[in-house]
Amino acid sequence: MNIYNLNNNEIDLSTKNVYVLLLNFSMLNYQDYMTYLSDDEIQRVDNINNKIKKNQFVISRAIVKKLLSKYLSKIPNQIEFSYNKHGKPFVPEKYNNHSLEFNISHSDIYGLIAITLDNKIGVDIQRINHDINIDSLSERFFSEDEKEQLMKFDKNKRTDVFHNCWVKKESFIKAIGSGVAYGLDNFSVSLEENHRNYVLDLKNKKWYCYKLIEFENYKTALTMETKSNIFLSYKENYISNILH
Ligand SMILES: CC(C)(COP(=O)(O)OP(=O)(O)OC[C@H]1O[C@@H](n2cnc3c(N)ncnc32)[C@H](O)[C@@H]1OP(=O)(O)O)[C@@H](O)C(=O)NCCC(=O)NCCS
Repeated sequence: MNIYNLNNNEIDLSTKNVYVLLLNFSMLNYQDYMTYLSDDEIQRVDNINNKIKKNQFVISRAIVKKLLSKYLSKIPNQIEFSYNKHGKPFVPEKYNNHSLEFNISHSDIYGLIAITLDNKIGVDIQRINHDINIDSLSERFFSEDEKEQLMKFDKNKRTDVFHNCWVKKESFIKAIGSGVAYGLDNFSVSLEENHRNYVLDLKNKKWYCYKLIEFENYKTALTMETKSNIFLSYKENYISNILH
């Protein structure tokens, strides 16, 4: 597994590569992208009551749909997502017998989209919150192994390490598609800063869990079912080019 910079290259979905795009919602306005959404999504937007959340929902879906439209030979607003019983969106249609896999995450003004073929994936982005109580949250959500790992770090590093652990855990339950119903203390990730490793699910199957990039006050992670190369873009103009 390697992480490459996507630069200005076009996304060309394959089973060997996972593409990850970083979005900055503060540079975009959801009203410009409503035409990408289906009717039921447009109704959902009406029920979202703040602009950041509207931006998160509309812009990330607009990008996913624009990317999928090439493979499904449909215009974006005709692409309908289905949902598993835990709310994970997916497209039931195949592309040349391949399943089109994607996942979305957002936190405040930033978001992540991951997209690939035939590889179950989950992404998570989280803005670091310095006001939370690390002890009580890790007690509640972390496995025994993770709690032990966390205690080995100096106190002044624990907020950082906690959030790295959090995004890895979230990306795993999102890749599996169960969300929190999976049981956050049912599995462990590595808390080592640069440790790229695997997570075992409840059936002892390996899932590959990676810390992605860190910037400003944000942590990010990606989990995938099959080890693949990662192509990452964090250029704002890349997103604008996709949407125009
Ligand atoms: C819903 C959940 C999957 C992610 O929630 P989140 O971290 O608040 O939100 P994110 O921004 O990362 O992800 C939201 C996106 O994930 C996707 N999603 C929704 N349910 C999903 C599921 N079961 N599996 C994978 N992806 C899912 C959707 O695309 C959604 O965005 P959209 O509604 O704009 O389309 C779930 O894990 C959750 O409720 N987490 C709560 C947080 C928590 O307690 N974490 C403790 C960690 S230690």
